[in-house]
Amino acid sequence: MKLTNRRSRIIYHLWSPIYDGLFDRFFAAPGRRRAMQVLGLQPGERVLLVGVGTGADLPLLPASVRAIGLDLSLDMLARARAKLPLTGRDVTLLQADAQALPLRAGEFDAAVLHLVLSVVPDGAVCLQEALRTLRPDGRAIIFDKFAPDDGRLTLGRRLVNLVTTLAGTDVTRRFGDRAAGSRCTIVHDEPSLLRGAYRIILIERGDNS
Ligand SMILES: C[S@@+](CC[C@H](N)C(=O)[O-])C[C@H]1O[C@@H](n2cnc3c(N)ncnc32)[C@H](O)[C@@H]1O
Repeated sequence: MKLTNRRSRIIYHLWSPIYDGLFDRFFAAPGRRRAMQVLGLQPGERVLLVGVGTGADLPLLPASVRAIGLDLSLDMLARARAKLPLTGRDVTLLQADAQALPLRAGEFDAAVLHLVLSVVPDGAVCLQEALRTLRPDGRAIIFDKFAPDDGRLTLGRRLVNLVTTLAGTDVTRRFGDRAAGSRCTIVHDEPSLLRGAYRIILIERGDNS
């Protein structure tokens, strides 16, 4: 099934009440913690959280950064908003499509793309948009599941994808395809959850030629 914004809104409306307690607590939390460590935000930096969801990354932001978090789903954003008083972070939340960001170019020092490139209809456009908002030497951290960059997609993966797309995520995407044509350089790539099915990738904006 093809992922669309319309479907995502419905799927993440359903996910929103159980996302933190089920998916994040029992699965994703160690990966996101490690990814934020790799990103290494510095005091005073401006950071963009693309597809911020329920705001599971918000408590991991250093108190001194200024952040904008955006998401398509109002239900997910409502969960993120509820966390703001607890985290005490300087965060602005807004509803927006990650494929057409209503933000100026070069505004941010860093971007966080956790579990979003496998969800938006067009991950390549989403990545390009995030890179556009970064200053020329800005960086982005990606924590997500990707198909291996080399080799064909197996039948098993395609079958699993029929189920995961019903839950709002695609397991057949390759990071290399998302990054192709983007002006970025991979500076760190490590295996994460599910024996490396999930990866933590740090990229820097800049020419990859
Ligand atoms: C799997 S959740 C990840 C949320 C969060 N980044 C995290 O790490 O927990 C994917 C999020 O992407 C959002 N999303 C899907 N399509 C989007 C789009 N086109 N623009 C912005 N957000 C989108 C969903 O609403 C959902 O909150």
